[in-house]
Amino acid sequence: MELGLIGYPVQHSKSPWIHQHFLSETNLTGNYQLIEIHPDQFDEEIMKLKASDLSGFNVTIPYKEKIIPYLDEISPAAQKIGAVNTVVCRNNRWYGDNTDGRGLVTALKEQFPELFTGDKSVLILGAGGASRGIYYALLNEEFEEIVIANRTVIRAQALIDANPSGISSAAISFSEAEAKLNQFDLVIQTTSVGMTPHIEEQVIDLSRLKPGAVVSDIVYQPFWTKLLRDAKARGGRVHHGHEMLIYQAKLAFEMWSGKQVNAKLLKDKLKHDLL
Ligand code: ATR
Repeated sequence: MELGLIGYPVQHSKSPWIHQHFLSETNLTGNYQLIEIHPDQFDEEIMKLKASDLSGFNVTIPYKEKIIPYLDEISPAAQKIGAVNTVVCRNNRWYGDNTDGRGLVTALKEQFPELFTGDKSVLILGAGGASRGIYYALLNEEFEEIVIANRTVIRAQALIDANPSGISSAAISFSEAEAKLNQFDLVIQTTSVGMTPHIEEQVIDLSRLKPGAVVSDIVYQPFWTKLLRDAKARGGRVHHGHEMLIYQAKLAFEMWSGKQVNAKLLKDKLKHDLL
């Protein structure tokens, strides 16, 4: 099975390592290649890929939106999120989906099933591309309420307005989020704040964190972001950024191969690599 990743730049991606593990685990022969495409050559290079024998590929920055017009079909989730991270190539047709948000939610549900009982409140920090995918995936679950806090509050409000649902939602500022933090059972950090080399940055203060609340950060470098260190010190439970990385890959690989893979073993390996 020929697989790959398109983006610019792509050299530092962990995806080849992850998917080579999944290929070995499923006894499938194949390869996962890094396909770096310069923005000036996007159209020509995509046409070459269309004519190649790829079974599927991932899409990363800056092409998650740009790939959409080249697809033959798109999932309702990717359509709504406005971004594609996984393309399945079958019978010369390209089908685009987005497994990022679903990946994070699957990982959270496996580790903290008690959060998904319908009476819990979630706070999402950030309202960009990553947040859109995560919010969309959370709306398919049972929650009491989902609140989105963002530096630019109207962006959070726009995200809520674009996704009418039966779950109570609100857009708030970071200072409001800090003030009412003790009402949330799950806090999901979706911005790039705290990522290497800015490891001493933290998007909100956690002084009022509810005891036992779960704090999930999608930043995986460093493994212990300042936010997660703070959450742990205040008696919170933490969920690290490598979880989303592995689970979005698991869901993509399962779409390409039709086989189930075990993310848990790989998660521990990646953790050791990142620490
Ligand atoms: P991505 O696709 O990675 O989510 P994005 O769409 O550019 O990237 O969104 C970035 C998110 O991080 C946004 O929520 C952004 O806040 P704004 O909407 O106010 O711009 C947030 N963000 C980025 N840098 C930030 C910072 N220094 N402090 C607070 N929020 C930040």
